Amino acid sequence: MHKLVCAALLLLLSLSWSKTVISSPSGSHRYKSIFSFGDSFADTGNNPIVFGWYSVFDPVTRPPYGTTFFGRHTGRNGDGRLIIDFIAENLGLPYVPPTLAHNGSFHRGANFAVGAATALDAGFFHERDIPGGYSKFPLNTSLGVQLEWFESMKPTLCRTPRECKNFFGRSLFLVGEFGVNDYHFSFQRKTVQEVRSFVPDVVATISMAIERLIKHGARSLVVPGVIPSGCSPPILTKFADAPPAAYDSKTGCLTAHNELGLHHNALLQAALGKLRAKHRNVKIIYADFFGPIMDMVESPHKFGFEEDVLMVCCGGPGRYGMNSTVPCGDAAATTCRDPSARLYWDGVHLTEAANRHVADVWLGVINSFTGVSTKQGAKEPCRLGRHRI
Ligand SMILES: *[C@@H]1O[C@H](CO)[C@@H](O)[C@H](O)[C@H]1NC(C)=O
Ligand SMILES: *[C@@H]1O[C@H](CO)[C@@H](O)[C@H](O)[C@H]1NC(C)=O
Ligand SMILES: *[C@@H]1O[C@H](CO)[C@@H](O)[C@H](O)[C@H]1NC(C)=O
Repeated sequence: MHKLVCAALLLLLSLSWSKTVISSPSGSHRYKSIFSFGDSFADTGNNPIVFGWYSVFDPVTRPPYGTTFFGRHTGRNGDGRLIIDFIAENLGLPYVPPTLAHNGSFHRGANFAVGAATALDAGFFHERDIPGGYSKFPLNTSLGVQLEWFESMKPTLCRTPRECKNFFGRSLFLVGEFGVNDYHFSFQRKTVQEVRSFVPDVVATISMAIERLIKHGARSLVVPGVIPSGCSPPILTKFADAPPAAYDSKTGCLTAHNELGLHHNALLQAALGKLRAKHRNVKIIYADFFGPIMDMVESPHKFGFEEDVLMVCCGGPGRYGMNSTVPCGDAAATTCRDPSARLYWDGVHLTEAANRHVADVWLGVINSFTGVSTKQGAKEPCRLGRHRI
């Protein structure tokens, strides 16, 4: 019977041979839900709640946030959809509800990500007076705290250990991005060289989180690396007085900050390699965040972006369109005419157009894995050359 179905599918495919059919193999049925941990790159609406607890200013609850896609602010740090939104769409799942702002079921996914979250616990930074002054950041929303939130929710999602393994085994876990805030907060007080010494701690924290999720039953995890911080408008603005030699002459990015990101990504990939060797039945997917952004910085025209690609779309007067006294969301801020012609939205965050490109790259990797394990008696998917359908 299975063979017959496969044959029928192959026939259908040969009749309507198209790239889309092949590259997006029945995505909608592979995962039952998405569980997400991270910071503002993944936060679909938790940050207004958390920032409210601490009485800190949160610009994302004002226009023009959300105007490109949702038509209103949603708590997302962007003009429209985030990478996680494009992933959910592609997998045929609902947008992942932010756990602190959603009053309803989390059976099809839960997003624990919070803007400004760090991998390391807040105490690590407060002990070192980072970022210092009167700042309340980092808030108590680290990866470890998000895992505690997940563990508190777990009894509402599944009961027996067997049921939980089954449920989480058919879920996609997004672990990150984490690290960008650990480093960006630290740059306020520490040199790039000093911050480099934090990288092993950050990577070890991500690694431990993955182990913990695997113990709960996770079988498919996507673990993004960090962005090229040296091309990030807030970093470029903060170090605006750097000597000419500090910049990559081709891109205008700060070389040392980008090297820190490459170092993080190398250590992270090595750690993921060890985890894969230890957990052979678990899919641990590295998602490159650095490369796709560099591609857009290096060849803006290829992506429909304007020449001065390091300029943010929304902000105040300044070389990169950023000005600490006039943040995006402020009444005096200006917004570019066409956000889809920009890489950066309000500073560190990307526009929906850029998020779409990054999501396409990640989905290419996610979809090249088969999804649900074929072990426990599940049917072997039909094979079609290298692809499975
Ligand atoms: C959540 O939803 C339930 C029922 O749908 C309702 O009774 C309850 O008041 C809601 N809670 C909040 C905090 O909105
Ligand atoms: C941080 O949050 C966690 C989880 O909600 C809680 O257990 C812990 O006590 C909090 N720590 C601080 C320092 O507030
Ligand atoms: C930032 O904005 C303020 C107020 O508009 C302005 O006075 C200042 O010159 C701006 N800073 C830069 C670096 O452009």
